[in-house]
Amino acid sequence: MMQAMRQTIAHCQRIELLGQRVRLHFECVAALAPGQFVLARVAPAFDPYLRRSLFPSVITPNGFAADLAEDDPALRFIAPGSDVDVLTPAGSPVGGPPAASRLLLIADQTPAVLLPVAARAIESGGSVTLLLAQPYPLDALDPRLEIRVGSLPELAADFAPTADLVFIHTAQSLHRPIAQALASARPTVAAGFARALFAPPMPCGTGACGACAVRTARGWKPACTEGPFFNLADLET
Ligand code: FES
Repeated sequence: MMQAMRQTIAHCQRIELLGQRVRLHFECVAALAPGQFVLARVAPAFDPYLRRSLFPSVITPNGFAADLAEDDPALRFIAPGSDVDVLTPAGSPVGGPPAASRLLLIADQTPAVLLPVAARAIESGGSVTLLLAQPYPLDALDPRLEIRVGSLPELAADFAPTADLVFIHTAQSLHRPIAQALASARPTVAAGFARALFAPPMPCGTGACGACAVRTARGWKPACTEGPFFNLADLET
């Protein structure tokens, strides 16, 4: 059963520069699990019912961190010491991987939203390989991750045979080539083997407004409550 969201304050403790990205560290009773996110009212002048999603790159017992591009408009409103009104936790958790799982993470622009999944897998004795389309600042990544940079479908085919679970954060146009690469590299692809993040704007976060509806093989689903991770096979429509 999904945990009810609560409205609370996320206090920005510090900001860390990671190449062209900025990591915001928040103290917050966020109660986040990997796969979940917060809905933040970043700018006080905006409509109070319109929020933006902040996906954690790090989840701690006392809060979370979120990585933003250095030109993200939210950075005009968030600085060390500022408070952000958030609804948390939003979305469905991906669940803990079985102990000693081998995870394959695939990202084209930034792997940040996949990092809590990686951390959970490593905590439970698993291993994680991260496939990137372009280099990412190493100081933003756990040194225990195995990292490969290159063509994502080709790398996915190389690593799929030994993976237990796959998590993907790429442009939608890459979903089909990656799905085909995974299918070509394994005798069977079980339901739930590969999950892709789908995160359109989510202004309400409650499944009420329909703005985040995602077309899946099982019909239209709100990403804010039934996502943001969906079975890759269900997105192949
Ligand atoms: S954001 Fe309103 S239904 Fe998902």
